[in-house]
Amino acid sequence: MQDLTGRTAFVTGAASGIGLGIATALSHAGVNVMLCDIEGEALATAVAKLKLTNANVDGVRADVSLKAELQAAADATMSRYGKVHILVNNAGVPGGRGYGHWTDAGWHWVLDVNLMSVIWGIEIFGPLIEAHGEGGQVVSTASVFGLIAGGSPEYDVSKYGVVALSEGLRQALAPRKIGVSVLCPGVVRTQIMNFRRNVPQRFVGKIDSPPMEGPVADFIKAFQERTNNGIDPLYVGELVREAIENDWPYIFTDTEREPMIDARFAAIKQGFDRIRGRTPRR
Ligand SMILES: NC(=O)c1ccc[n+]([C@@H]2O[C@H](COP(=O)([O-])OP(=O)(O)OC[C@H]3O[C@@H](n4cnc5c(N)ncnc54)[C@H](O)[C@@H]3O)[C@@H](O)[C@H]2O)c1
Repeated sequence: MQDLTGRTAFVTGAASGIGLGIATALSHAGVNVMLCDIEGEALATAVAKLKLTNANVDGVRADVSLKAELQAAADATMSRYGKVHILVNNAGVPGGRGYGHWTDAGWHWVLDVNLMSVIWGIEIFGPLIEAHGEGGQVVSTASVFGLIAGGSPEYDVSKYGVVALSEGLRQALAPRKIGVSVLCPGVVRTQIMNFRRNVPQRFVGKIDSPPMEGPVADFIKAFQERTNNGIDPLYVGELVREAIENDWPYIFTDTEREPMIDARFAAIKQGFDRIRGRTPRR
């Protein structure tokens, strides 16, 4: 989609961080943007600030881990703008306590916000994008941890799922004039490490707090420092805008983890090399 002017985008997790960066960059390019977030107050502030730049934006509050709320947000977008061309599935939480500490509630929280919302987003918005025949783009935020396991198990599984879904749907949606991109950011300067502010009501009291001391606490502290000095979210938003214009399959923000991704592919290749030349028994 080379000319974005006058198109409409729906962006989840848009009140903060990467989502706000994407909403800002798209609105600067003349896109009408419906910002969606679970945090009503932050959402209202973000929309008000963008309106000061004459952007054609609006906001809708929704917990995207609930399909009915996502559907209501899609309905609100259609009532407000009449059409939608770009879906950005971006809301996400790192969550999870990892092996030995995981809980059903922790798994559900992370998988529902990070993965089910992407599945539902495509299910709900895909037909809306197809309906007008003008084409469109689906961008879903995974992580470099969607290509190498390095976060909590819950997070890695959710983000690998987003990469798999995006890769699989790219071919299926191309004939329907919908491009599919997956965003795999490195470390970006956002509120991500303050993610406990967004525990949905149904999981409150069922999610353990992280430890205050020990290796996990040290990891969280170190990662917090890294995100404080991370990449500018507006820069990420501008990359996403360029990716939509050029239908990039993968959107990276930097090359820091490229050697680790190469090492993963090399380990997979070694797995094939080990059995090469053998005839499988049938
Ligand atoms: N910051 C990083 O370094 C980094 C790296 C890789 C991937 N990511 C991914 O980027 C995405 C955005 O995160 P961020 O870093 O901008 O963090 P952030 O906390 O600044 O923004 C996340 C936004 O999502 C919203 N949100 C959370 N749960 C929600 C729900 N149930 N329904 C609707 N909105 C909800 C939050 O209110 C917030 O506005 C996430 O998917 C995250 O996993 C971030």
